[in-house]
Amino acid sequence: MDHSKTQDVDDAAQISLAGLIIRQKEPKNLEAPFDRIDSYLTPRELFYIRSHFPVPNLDRDSYQLHIDGAVRHPFALSYEELRSMPSETRVATLECAGNSRVFLVPQVQGAQWELGAVSNAEWTGVPLRALLERAGLREDACEILLEGADRGTPKEGPLPPDPISYAWSLSRAKAIQPEVLIAYQMNGRDLSPDHGFPVRAIVPGHYGMASVKWLTGIQAVSEPFHGYWKTSDYAYWASMDGKPVRRALGEMQIKSEIARPRVYETIAPNRIYTVSGAAWAGETDVTEIAVSTDGGRSWAEAEFVDPVRRHAWRRWKFDWLTPKEPGPYTLLARAKDASGLIQPDKHDQNYGTYVINHPLPIEVFVGDSAGSRS
Ligand code: MTE
Repeated sequence: MDHSKTQDVDDAAQISLAGLIIRQKEPKNLEAPFDRIDSYLTPRELFYIRSHFPVPNLDRDSYQLHIDGAVRHPFALSYEELRSMPSETRVATLECAGNSRVFLVPQVQGAQWELGAVSNAEWTGVPLRALLERAGLREDACEILLEGADRGTPKEGPLPPDPISYAWSLSRAKAIQPEVLIAYQMNGRDLSPDHGFPVRAIVPGHYGMASVKWLTGIQAVSEPFHGYWKTSDYAYWASMDGKPVRRALGEMQIKSEIARPRVYETIAPNRIYTVSGAAWAGETDVTEIAVSTDGGRSWAEAEFVDPVRRHAWRRWKFDWLTPKEPGPYTLLARAKDASGLIQPDKHDQNYGTYVINHPLPIEVFVGDSAGSRS
């Protein structure tokens, strides 16, 4: 089967039905219409966009990727040279660490993402590991710093004195995993400017902030990188011997989201309504989904639509016989991973305005029409 053709047809059908939702106009922070996307791969045009600074102007012909720092043989690659190296294609879900922030009560600072700062795509590129092997990583290299070409002054303090670039570091252990890609294609097409053209990192299993777009520098460092993004911004309070310590976010936490019904949708009584959604986790597999249609008092098992594939979401569905009794109902979905871990009941305050992975309440109204609401 010509997979790319099928995907194109699928994309066209989905795109004509839906568009992105603005959370911030410029720089672009656009949410995917989670309730409108039925496909396993999110079409490129509907994949969420999270950018801190304006899109840098990078040209394919003059593009250079520098690999240096704690390596024996620093080198630079052109776009064509990168594309001529052996490549791999992998499916990975990206979720912004602030996804679902709008569900936090009272409201917190930051983009008010609902359900769509998450998307799933097929990425093609060169494993970071191959580039590091070629450069000859020194024994003292503890992290790999990925730097983007975009620059500016971040929004929230404490702020560094001058404008900075977007940069994120990976532990050496994660950087050499085969799934980490230096990617130039998504869903079989070149990256679009908003998604990092010409080249970006894809770090499957980690929150989206690690997948640096407009990548121009890969630097091996012999001391942990404590830049703005890893300390002021994407960090949380962990505990060390009972004392709170600041740590950078990393692995995505297990989560499921209901795509349909939509929040505050009106649903006909006494009918079969197929509740649907998707679930994902970081370095583990989602193995079970439970759905509640009574605000968490009782749970029933949902059915998976997609097989297990590490680092990619699994869509699921559940047939709900809607109540005869009109009124408000709260739906929840809760995922379990292969080790038996389930989503937490509540948002963990130590994560501040990030990692919102408790079962999100989807409030609906069962009744014949919106007009029957009292
Ligand atoms: N890379 C650069 N250079 N600049 C950015 O602002 N945003 C990060 C990451 N990579 C960002 C970046 C964040 S917070 C997320 S969630 C993902 O990109 C979003 O990737 P997308 O816009 O392709 O969905």
